[in-house]
Amino acid sequence: MVFMEWTENFSVKVPSIDEQHKKLFGLINDFYSGFNEKSTKERMMELIRGLKDYALYHFSTEEKYMEMYNFPGYKNHKKEHEIFIEKIADISERYESGRLVVSLEITNFIKNWLTNHVLGTDKKYSQLFVEKGVK
Ligand SMILES: [Fe+2]
Repeated sequence: MVFMEWTENFSVKVPSIDEQHKKLFGLINDFYSGFNEKSTKERMMELIRGLKDYALYHFSTEEKYMEMYNFPGYKNHKKEHEIFIEKIADISERYESGRLVVSLEITNFIKNWLTNHVLGTDKKYSQLFVEKGVK
């Protein structure tokens, strides 16, 4: 069973952003697989860094368009991104220093955050981006 599956339900009607979301889902699946297969710490660090880096890149894409088109919810949306990145950075640091073990609670937190964020927060910019012709 796939840990996180992208379905049409997640679509924000902007193909490039949907693609980025699919990629993020894939990185979360890789992280989950790493956890499930008891991968080495080195590998797990690689996976969480990759996830964080791609999330940063993806968030900057969304923020660029929100700013460009004066999306009213820009500030709050950006704040949600920042809190998530801080949380991932914290998990990553604590895991690296041996103060945290990767658990189902951690993988589920990441999955649930992204699910709720895409369905609840990202969907709000959908109409504006489509109107502005973002592909
Ligand atoms: Fe977002």
